[in-house]
Amino acid sequence: MKRQLGVVIIGAGDMGARHAHHWVIAGAKLIAVCDPNCARAEAVAAPFGAEAYDSPDEPLKRDDVDVVSVCTPTFLHDEYSIQALEAGKDVLCEKPVALTLADAERMKAAALKSRRKLRIGFMRRFDPAYHQLMAYRQHIGNPVLAQATIAAGIRPKLLMHDAMANGGPIIDMCCHIFDQWVGLFDSQPESVTAYGYTFSQNKPELESIKQKALDSAHITLNYPDGSVGQIQVSWGLPAGIAPIEHHTYMGPDGLITLDWPQQLTLRNSAGTTRWDNNGVDPWKTEIMLFYRELVDGERRHLATVGDGIEVLKTSLAVLESVARQRAVNPAEIVLKPELKETA
Ligand SMILES: NC(=O)c1ccc[n+]([C@@H]2O[C@H](COP(=O)([O-])OP(=O)(O)OC[C@H]3O[C@@H](n4cnc5c(N)ncnc54)[C@H](O)[C@@H]3O)[C@@H](O)[C@H]2O)c1
Repeated sequence: MKRQLGVVIIGAGDMGARHAHHWVIAGAKLIAVCDPNCARAEAVAAPFGAEAYDSPDEPLKRDDVDVVSVCTPTFLHDEYSIQALEAGKDVLCEKPVALTLADAERMKAAALKSRRKLRIGFMRRFDPAYHQLMAYRQHIGNPVLAQATIAAGIRPKLLMHDAMANGGPIIDMCCHIFDQWVGLFDSQPESVTAYGYTFSQNKPELESIKQKALDSAHITLNYPDGSVGQIQVSWGLPAGIAPIEHHTYMGPDGLITLDWPQQLTLRNSAGTTRWDNNGVDPWKTEIMLFYRELVDGERRHLATVGDGIEVLKTSLAVLESVARQRAVNPAEIVLKPELKETA
């Protein structure tokens, strides 16, 4: 692989702008930015001398394009990732992998067939706060009782509440925690029990959304080592309430409290140790490491499409548990037979 990679960004919103910036810092040449909203594409492309398009069809034909960042709303991740893979490009697709298991499996099949790399943007893996959490985790023993509270007012981006677009917080937000906890507990959960709510059901801000996603949930995850995780999540509080995210991790030897991602505190028999985040941008690390992986072929710690699928199964198990009012093992989440043929 040549040294300077050529990049195309699909979706020129917040994530597209971020990816463009970090690809250039990593050493890539930004070749094109695509968004049906041409003004947005132009605003991201112009500072880097790149071209703006309303569709990726043309830029994906170019030989000087090596890698594509898919930064569209989630329901489009499959379509654009597959198009880029089929055009022979490597892909970094924002998290979550997709809205449905069938979409995600099609992405995996396209990656296998094309022999290109498809990585999913679980950038929290590269957050200094996560590294510190993994370091402190050794000091609290087993099993761990984990708890995360994530709460915010109705999100200003309405697609985040749309079951058919970004899928609501169980798919869009909790995927980060599920992925972090796979690392922390070294395993997928074996049982998920959840209660779900749509606090925003009758709020006028979301009147235009036909299929509102659940916006609030209480989730319990059981891990094979006896650890238990609980998540309380809501994006359905009154608009304007600023987001919070707090975690606690208790084990026989100590307690970790985490004000994500700024501050961690470990309390154990050695005393109290505090850690403050140094502010390294996890997207920057993620994109830099993917750049290196593409140049030297050595696998870094970016999430694979398979990792993304496992996490999606946990989100889908939460939704299934809410619907069926019973515990669900994420391993039960499989493609329905009629969908297998097209996956
Ligand atoms: N890693 C993280 O923590 C994180 C944070 C925020 C968002 N995300 C994910 O990134 C993705 C994008 O989120 P965002 O916050 O940047 O959204 P956004 O709304 O800011 O941007 C999305 C962009 O996609 C464009 N778009 C819509 N339809 C398109 C199409 N058919 N083709 C090309 N572009 C199209 C929109 O015009 C918009 O410019 C989502 O999947 C979201 O879950 C990840």
